[in-house]
Amino acid sequence: MTAPTAVLREMRWWDIAPVLELEHELFPEDAWSAGMFWSELAHARGPHASRRYVVAEDPASGRIVGYAGLAASGDLGDVQTIAAAKDQWGTGLGARLLTELLRAATAFECAEVLLEVRVDNTRAQRLYERFGFEPIGFRRGYYQPGNVDALVMRLTDPARTAAPAGESAEATGTAPADPTTETTEHPESSETHGS
Ligand SMILES: CC(C)(COP(=O)(O)OP(=O)(O)OC[C@H]1O[C@@H](n2cnc3c(N)ncnc32)[C@H](O)[C@@H]1OP(=O)(O)O)[C@@H](O)C(=O)NCCC(=O)NCCS
Repeated sequence: MTAPTAVLREMRWWDIAPVLELEHELFPEDAWSAGMFWSELAHARGPHASRRYVVAEDPASGRIVGYAGLAASGDLGDVQTIAAAKDQWGTGLGARLLTELLRAATAFECAEVLLEVRVDNTRAQRLYERFGFEPIGFRRGYYQPGNVDALVMRLTDPARTAAPAGESAEATGTAPADPTTETTEHPESSETHGS
């Protein structure tokens, strides 16, 4: 039997615990802390919102099977994290999450979206390439403590890539980026999954 399609919706504070479970499973070396997610969600609502976080929820069981987040600063978007539970890989969930982040980048009026991805994460790199992200450089030793390099990828004009039709997570909390913010803030650590 085919599993029901996960539903995308805005991530709220009560999702942090199940998201952390996935986070530790999928990023065992450099998992974000609860505090980092709290800090991100604190910037996800209100007139000066600069973040968009979504979760994918199995409608039958309520299980969280994926999550993703984008930060906007001026006209620059940054994919902070994106992940799908292992049993969902290859079902298109990663693509749906990324599409939602690009819709958010469009709503924030981002001219380009950047991300960092581990050089050894070819699966994720393929996903980003399919969406038109191009490699623009490396950040040496970006992922600690493993000292793994990050590939930096960029997508220009996310509005062109974010399909206007189809599913969109609930729009609550999405607002244009605060133009007074000069730099992309990262939670606690300077590192993102780059995702
Ligand atoms: C990266 C990640 C989010 C991708 O998620 P995903 O759900 O597997 O992504 P998709 O299903 O959209 O695409 C992956 C592959 O499945 C294929 N696919 C997409 N839809 C499909 C479908 N309906 N049926 C079968 N295969 C499908 C795609 O063609 C793609 O194949 P390719 O990699 O050979 O191009 C996921 O692997 C993950 O969470 N990894 C661990 C965390 C991580 O590394 N995050 C990124 C950090 S930079």
